Amino acid sequence: METDVSRPAFTQAPAPPPKDAPVVVDIRNLSTVFGSGADAFTVHKDLNLTVRRGEIVSLVGGSGTGKTVLLRHILGLTTPTTGTVTVLGRPASELSTAGAAARVGMLFQHGALFSAFNVLENIGFALQEQGTLPPALVRDAAMVKLQMVGLKPEVATRMPADLSGGMIKRVALARALIMDPPLLLLDEPTAGLDPNGSDEFCELLKEMHAALGLTVIMVTHDLDSLFALSTTVAVLAEKRVIIEGPPSEVVRFDHPFIHHFFLGERGRRAMAAVPAEHEEERVAVPAAKES
Ligand SMILES: Nc1ncnc2c1ncn2[C@@H]1O[C@H](COP(=O)(O)OP(=O)(O)O)[C@@H](O)[C@H]1O
Ligand SMILES: [Mg+2]
Repeated sequence: METDVSRPAFTQAPAPPPKDAPVVVDIRNLSTVFGSGADAFTVHKDLNLTVRRGEIVSLVGGSGTGKTVLLRHILGLTTPTTGTVTVLGRPASELSTAGAAARVGMLFQHGALFSAFNVLENIGFALQEQGTLPPALVRDAAMVKLQMVGLKPEVATRMPADLSGGMIKRVALARALIMDPPLLLLDEPTAGLDPNGSDEFCELLKEMHAALGLTVIMVTHDLDSLFALSTTVAVLAEKRVIIEGPPSEVVRFDHPFIHHFFLGERGRRAMAAVPAEHEEERVAVPAAKES
């Protein structure tokens, strides 16, 4: 992998929490099957994942391996075919009802802001929807979050179309954190940002994690953010989490996907180019795809 000397060296990823820290997300024997009969398509099979308070988990895997669907399970938006998904001690399915935003913040992959709302209205949206606070207090709370993510107060009245990519991500992060959720989910948060924007966003996430005591689960393809942020890496392959552990341990795990992924640009490009339905084939014969 090439080293860009113009980029600042990262400080270390945060220290992992104690091994007996409370469990925030517990996924047991999860299977996810879409469709039925001849059209049945299995995305997850006997998948297990445990996330403890204070962890920053990078979820990695080839395109179409079910990373986004896994986040949707944790949000309670997708129902397990079999198995259980428990979030903060309760079934994730209970989250999709009122109050979800107070427990889990989500920054979606194509996390577009509401284009008809200004920055402050976007950030305060979930609080406004809840309808328990007068508008002036919602605005105050949104203003606090705006400044927390490093944006100046004068940005508050701008419309999304007038923001840079990095600012949009910051506003989306402030929006995800408006209800002070203990758990934050991010789907490829640095995708589409240039290297500087990506570094800045990682530093911001690290600050938020420390300041707010967050637990974070992040889907990423970006090795720089993975190494800058992760206390834990979980690898999705063969429809399950094949290994979950500290980055140093995971990179040494002997599996074709892990070799490809951590080999640098070439491995990453190869991974992105292979269609999901050839996943098993590719894992079985990685050399054939290399040449
Ligand atoms: N609601 C759905 N119905 C049917 N298939 C789906 C649905 N959601 C996702 N899939 C399929 O599940 C697989 C995993 O999707 P996804 O989690 O988005 O992959 P990725 O790991 O790239 O985020 C893909 O093949 C996708 O087409
Ligand atoms: Mg995805």
